[in-house]
Amino acid sequence: MSAAASFRRLLLPAGALFGAAFVSIQFIHPPLENPPVTGDFQAPVAVKSIVQRACYDCHSNQTNLRWFDKVAPVSWQVADHVQEGRAGLNFSTWQSLPPADQKAKLWESVNQIIAGAMPRTDYTLVHPAAKLSAQDVTVLKQYVASLAKNPPADTAKRNAADRQYRHWQPTQAVPATVPVAPNGIAYLPDYKNWQAISTTERFDNGTMRVVFGNAVAVKAIRDKHINPWPNGTAFAKVAWDQLADAQGNVRPGAFKQVEYMLKDDQKYAATKGWGWARFKTPELVPYGKDALFTTECIHCHQPMKNNDFVFTQPLKH
Ligand code: HEC
Ligand code: HEC
Repeated sequence: MSAAASFRRLLLPAGALFGAAFVSIQFIHPPLENPPVTGDFQAPVAVKSIVQRACYDCHSNQTNLRWFDKVAPVSWQVADHVQEGRAGLNFSTWQSLPPADQKAKLWESVNQIIAGAMPRTDYTLVHPAAKLSAQDVTVLKQYVASLAKNPPADTAKRNAADRQYRHWQPTQAVPATVPVAPNGIAYLPDYKNWQAISTTERFDNGTMRVVFGNAVAVKAIRDKHINPWPNGTAFAKVAWDQLADAQGNVRPGAFKQVEYMLKDDQKYAATKGWGWARFKTPELVPYGKDALFTTECIHCHQPMKNNDFVFTQPLKH
């Protein structure tokens, strides 16, 4: 008997076996259910059609599985993604979210899209129609921005903010006892002497933000040694209210909060190598009921996991 013939004799039963196994696994996993839509996402058609096309398969109760999504073992992974996706964000129960949470979810969505984390690439590979164009992203961004109230021109507020800013800048304005976050990280007044690395405005809630980096961060940027960032790197992100004057010029108003990320891959190994802390209001009230507040930080910084969890990228030149 020739080698080829004996190979075929082996292959046939192997193929049959594989076929039988393939058929039988189709019955293992329960089919994915579509629960009722109780309060669908409402938005202008241009916006809604983008979200429906790119997000609804995993973030709504109107999952539309194609035949290849229903074939095990692929279907098991699809079902997991849909369950997990719906748990974090479900456009079919949208109306049950308070308006502030709706805005926050949309803002987070736009950030995840810009970061390239959503829609998931393992999904767009097989559902290319769900890919978003630059134009789609602009439409979503403009929509989220339009939800923000335009800051009112308010002279009293502006003067109060000026007084606070004059006080903030020269003095270290630290309360008698230094506030400490629930995970043990103390407020660091020194960030005012660090270097500003970038400024952004959060278009959905009317704040202006500056990200400061300490000397280690600045050196790392110069040495192009930023992924991972070296131990000792520290970032502070400060947010102010956004105010407008009568001419519509936008400027910082009252201090809202400062947040820190402190790099130490040993000490903070349990929280992705970073120590996280947030202090709110001019009284610098530590944020978080207990040390678990950091999961919230990490969750939102997750799309940047391939950039050591840091959003701010120094300007390339
Ligand atoms: C193939 C399924 C899939 C698609 C399509 C998809 N997502 Fe997701 N999404 C997930 C999964 C799974 C998670 C949770 C785990 C993770 O981050 O991967 C998630 C998490 C999120 C989160 C975080 C939710 C939270 O817990 O606060 C946001 C925001 C998000 N997705 C937005 C979007 C947007 C906007 C789109 C469309 C542009 C989209 N996703 C498309 C599967 C998907
Ligand atoms: C809703 C999503 C979200 C949550 C929650 C969040 N961040 Fe961020 N963070 C961002 C984004 C987006 C940036 C990028 C700068 C910007 O656009 O404001 C950022 C930037 C930062 C920076 C500057 C360094 C960098 O990554 O660019 C620090 C420091 C920071 N965050 C700390 C924290 C801490 C501490 C917490 C938890 C108490 C936290 N963040 C929770 C979204 C989030």
